[in-house]
Amino acid sequence: MNTSNVSKVVMLLALATSYVAIAAEGGVSDSDRIAQYREMISDGNPADFDEMAGEELWKKPGGPKNASLEKCDLGKGSGVVKGAYAEMPRYFKDTDRVQDLESRLMTCMNTLQGIPEEEIAAKPFSTEQKNSDISTLATYVVGQSKGIKMAVSVKHPKEKEAYEIGKRIFNYRAGPYDFSCSTCHATSGVRIRMQDLPNLNVAKDAQAAYTSWPAYRVSQGLTRSFEWRLNDCFRQQRFPEPKFASEATIALTMYSAVNANGAEYAGPGLKR
Ligand code: HEC
Repeated sequence: MNTSNVSKVVMLLALATSYVAIAAEGGVSDSDRIAQYREMISDGNPADFDEMAGEELWKKPGGPKNASLEKCDLGKGSGVVKGAYAEMPRYFKDTDRVQDLESRLMTCMNTLQGIPEEEIAAKPFSTEQKNSDISTLATYVVGQSKGIKMAVSVKHPKEKEAYEIGKRIFNYRAGPYDFSCSTCHATSGVRIRMQDLPNLNVAKDAQAAYTSWPAYRVSQGLTRSFEWRLNDCFRQQRFPEPKFASEATIALTMYSAVNANGAEYAGPGLKR
């Protein structure tokens, strides 16, 4: 085991111990316990390791062109990472479309490093066996927007269009149970087990939800990207999962990000 894995295990044990300690307390409401649990685990987030690994990947020459991603333009100019995520998704002139972080990273890996997009899209999410480079890179980039206010623009007609499409998808009911996103996410104060079910039509909830992803999932032992979060909800909705970095995914991300405008980005987060 290397040092970072050892530290990760130590952190996870601390998380587990605090959880057990809280669960054993009597006379405290579930919400209080959850709040206490969150407070106790907020100091050490194993996602920090993915942030570091992502930074290494960003700087390391790779792909057929043996180049690093340091010249990647995430919207604020070539190589600017600080604050970039707080303004994404956004319209990019060179690709003439609106891109979220993952789709933009894919463009950079393709153009700068020469990695075929199909190869990147084939392993979009980390598994227990293997980390996904694009997901790890995303964790690094989002970390560089910590504490920065979300300011996603809808000024460009294509940005506005993506937002409107995202809103339509959010409310579009279909599938075997006739569910839409809003079936589960348009009521306040509900919770499924340890997880609050945010009312994503209410600014405060939408902001808290969006600004805490990507997030380390304690139950899965992995840092999960926002695209993973959306895919998992498509699954909960009994819809087919959208293609990685597809127009539908980017539109839904645009809708969610704009609804979070004004709030400070607080990720990568930590979830049960
Ligand atoms: C069947 C109910 C259901 C549907 C439909 C659903 N979700 Fe979810 N959603 C959940 C649950 C449950 C969670 C918490 C999941 C967890 O802890 O694994 C969640 C979590 C989320 C979160 C993260 C909230 C946070 O605070 O961490 C976002 C964002 C989200 N959903 C967006 C969507 C979008 C967008 C759609 C439509 C594509 C959707 N959901 C459809 C049940 C649903």
